Amino acid sequence: MNNQWLDKIEKALSLDELETMRVDILGKKGTLTLEFAKMKDIPNEQKREFAKNLNKQKTTLTNALETKKTILMALALEEQLKCEKIDLTAFSAKSQNGAFHPVQDTMDRVITYFQNLNFSIEEGPLVEDDFHNFEALNLPAYHPARDMQDTFYTKDGKVLRTHTSPVQIRTMMSQKPPIRMIAPGTVFRKDFDITHTPMFNQVEGLVVDDEGVISFANLKHVMVEFLQYMFGEVEVRFRPSFFPFTEPSSEVDISCVFCKGEGCRVCSHTGWLEVLGCGIVDVNVFNAVGYKNVSGYAFGLGIERFAMLIHQIGDLRSLFESDIRLLGQFR
Ligand code: DAH
Repeated sequence: MNNQWLDKIEKALSLDELETMRVDILGKKGTLTLEFAKMKDIPNEQKREFAKNLNKQKTTLTNALETKKTILMALALEEQLKCEKIDLTAFSAKSQNGAFHPVQDTMDRVITYFQNLNFSIEEGPLVEDDFHNFEALNLPAYHPARDMQDTFYTKDGKVLRTHTSPVQIRTMMSQKPPIRMIAPGTVFRKDFDITHTPMFNQVEGLVVDDEGVISFANLKHVMVEFLQYMFGEVEVRFRPSFFPFTEPSSEVDISCVFCKGEGCRVCSHTGWLEVLGCGIVDVNVFNAVGYKNVSGYAFGLGIERFAMLIHQIGDLRSLFESDIRLLGQFR
C-alpha cells in the first residue's frame, strides 16, 4: 500500500490532486487513519510493532506529500510568472493624456495676455438685439456695411451676435470710464468654407479714457506687443481700412508665419497675413452709449484664425471635427 501511494504522489500533476490524496491517506476516513483504528483489535504484544510500522509509513507519506507539494508550488509559481512576465520591448498603445483644444488654448493665451495688462473680462448674450449688435455700433439699418456680415435672425427679430463688439456697448452702458476690457466669446455668421465656419470665436478689446488720453499710438503699441507675444518674431503692419465703429480704422497684418515674408500660397504671395481689425472708437459709438469727452481704441480678432496660424492648420473646419488624431498633435 505504501509503495502504491508513493508512486501516486510522485505522479500527481496538481496541488488539487495532491490535496485529494492527502485526504485519502491521512484524512478522517483516510486509509492510514483507518489502519491506525485497527490498533484496538491488535493483541497487546504486537501493538508496539504495529504502531511503529504505521508511524513509519505515516512519516514517509507525509514527507512525500510535503516534498511533492513544494515541487508543485514552485512549478505553479513559475507558470504564473510566465503569464505575468512583462515584455518591455513589446508595442504598447501610449497612454492618452488629455490636452486643451487648440482653440481653447489660443483663447486662454489671448485672455492671459490682456489680463496681465489689467484688462477686465466682459461677457454678453449670444442672442443679441439689433441695437447692441448693429445700431449702437454705428451700423444703422440702412447702412451698407451690414451686408459685410451674413446674419442669423431669430423669429422674434433678434440676432445671433455676428461679432463680440456688442459687448463693448453693454460694458460702456453699465460702467463708467475709464474702461479697459476684452470680451472673448462665440459668434455666428452664415458662412461655411475652408476659412469660415458658421460658429467661431472672437476677442473684442476696448480701452476708453478721458478725451485726448487714448491715441492711435497707444493702440499700435499694444497691438504690436500682443502680436509678437502670440506669433513670435513677426513684423507687424497697419493698413488703413474701414469699420463703422472706428475712425480711423486699420487692419493689421503680420509677416507670413509660413514663409517668413518670402511669399507663399497661404499669404497669396504677399508675404503678409491679416490678423485683426482695430481703430479709434467712432464718436457715434460714444454718442450711442451717452459717453462725452472721452477717447478710446478698439480691436477685434478671430481665435480660430490665430489658432490656425500658430499651429499651421490648413482647414478651419478641422478644428470643429473633434478628430483625436488631429487634436493629439497639440498635446
Ligand atoms: N467686429 C469686427 C468683426 O467682427 C472686428 C473688429 C474690427 C472689432 C475693428 C473692432 C474693431 O473693435 O475696431 O469683423
